[in-house]
Amino acid sequence: MPADAFVAKLNEQIAHEFAAHQQYLACAVYYDDDTLPQLAAFFYRQAVEEREHAMMMVQYLLDTDAPVRIPGVAAPIVEFADVVEPIRLALEQEKRVSEQINALAGVARAEGDYSSEQFMQWFIKEQVEEVATMSDLLRWAERSRDDVKDIEDYVAREQTGEAADATSPAAAGA
Ligand SMILES: [Fe+2]
Ligand SMILES: [Fe+2]
Repeated sequence: MPADAFVAKLNEQIAHEFAAHQQYLACAVYYDDDTLPQLAAFFYRQAVEEREHAMMMVQYLLDTDAPVRIPGVAAPIVEFADVVEPIRLALEQEKRVSEQINALAGVARAEGDYSSEQFMQWFIKEQVEEVATMSDLLRWAERSRDDVKDIEDYVAREQTGEAADATSPAAAGA
């Protein structure tokens, strides 16, 4: 079984991932309501990815006979000042998650829990990509804040969704 300290922290992370799912869903609905279909689709996709992350963590705990508890989730922010704000919020969230993921890898290493340390490697790589995606999008959105059509075109052109990743951990229920 993985180290107790790692199991406790991974259960907390499952809650953060589900909270990220809810937050991205709130962003998607905000854009959908404003008839910005590309931004809406982008955030709907991001939401699904966050749920996937949570379910990968659930599967790891199941596989290793560690306790797993499906958590309650903090309420997302649902009101935004303008079209840029959800993206700024998303970038902050991704940076925060990167710190959490790195801390998880750190706990696994400190505990000499090599399986858990290895499990975290995929998430470390994923966070680098997610922070990069959101900071690119934020830069574009800030530059084009008065021309929402241009932001929509950018998302349609550059953010078409990720190809299937054969290296990703298995997700529970998948
Ligand atoms: Fe995530
Ligand atoms: Fe993410």
